[in-house]
Amino acid sequence: MTTQLLSTTEQDLERAAELIRSGGLVAIPTETVYGLGANGLNPEAVKKIFEAKGRPQDNPLILHIHDASQLRDFCREIPDAAWTLAEAFWPGPLTMILPVRDCVPKTTTAGLDTVGVRCPDNAATREIIRLAGVPIAAPSANTSGKPSTTTAAHVLHDMDGKIDAIVDGGPCRVGVESTIVDLTGEKPRLLRPGGIGPEALSALLGELEIDNAVTGEIAKDAVVRAPGMKYKHYAPAAEVLIVDGSPEAAARYVRERFHAGDAVLCFAEELALFAGCNPTAYGREHDPASLSAGLFAALRALDDGRVQRIFARCPNGGGINVATRNRLRKSAGFHIVNAEAVDPLQVTGDK
Ligand code: TXA
Ligand code: MG
Repeated sequence: MTTQLLSTTEQDLERAAELIRSGGLVAIPTETVYGLGANGLNPEAVKKIFEAKGRPQDNPLILHIHDASQLRDFCREIPDAAWTLAEAFWPGPLTMILPVRDCVPKTTTAGLDTVGVRCPDNAATREIIRLAGVPIAAPSANTSGKPSTTTAAHVLHDMDGKIDAIVDGGPCRVGVESTIVDLTGEKPRLLRPGGIGPEALSALLGELEIDNAVTGEIAKDAVVRAPGMKYKHYAPAAEVLIVDGSPEAAARYVRERFHAGDAVLCFAEELALFAGCNPTAYGREHDPASLSAGLFAALRALDDGRVQRIFARCPNGGGINVATRNRLRKSAGFHIVNAEAVDPLQVTGDK
């Protein structure tokens, strides 16, 4: 199959909508990451998403809608909190988990009785959804396990020949996937940190439980609420090791262990400190939005077959840094060292 590249002209959006309506696969731009879209009400079309990505069948998809009023079409028992969050954050990087209506096929929800719904902050994609007349089921448009795609070129790299079209809407502004909040339990629960920080959610909701998946590693056989959180994720071919601690301690730690084939992923403010250690900046520490926006592109750029090990610097604190930290930790398989707790005289040259 030849993958068509489409723009955001009205004519191309109509073409994209037609492909969706006729059961095709179209990558769509959103403010978070590119999505791999299909008609969310057509099980045959949805099946193709899993095939193109190599995605496990037990991992449900998010339904994308063009207007909050569409929530009623696909969800039941919608609590007031859902309308409050929709009013505050939609269109935007927030996915809500709610009880699903029967019209949504089991292939989309992976058999769950709930569904994730999101209204993305991208006018072209909302227009495609409106023109198609169906909700678009879309996971991130990357090969399963790899960093998500934040440009049309990333999507082409992973999906060329496997999908019908890619709508190029430019680079994604947020750069990490949406915040997921489960509203089906007694208390709202954060399942995945994203573009909306946990503080902004609790300020509106009053209370917010934080799922273990947000901060910690999950055992392979654990029962998790967001099935996707248990899989290996965002991993480049190179091994990633997070080096925490002061910039000086981290630079010393890396220098003592640096080999040919290693690289450093750091904040722009630290580039000089890591000079000689093949450093790449993914954003500025003092501009958290630049870190989330640049993370996946930087991980992909380092995934060139030449880099074997990446020493990565990870931001602290709240807001979107919670999401950046979560993605980076997952890409590192939770391998984290504190450079300040390592005695520089006793360890030399180990891994
Ligand atoms: O920003 C985003 O959310 C992007 C763009 C394309 O919208 N989409 C995205 O989809 O990140 P995906 O499939 O890569 O991640 C969706 C996550 C998975 O971890 C999945 O298990 C979880 O959401 N999920 C989906 N439906 C769920 C449900 N009913 N209950 C719990 N978790 C659910
Ligand atoms: Mg994904």
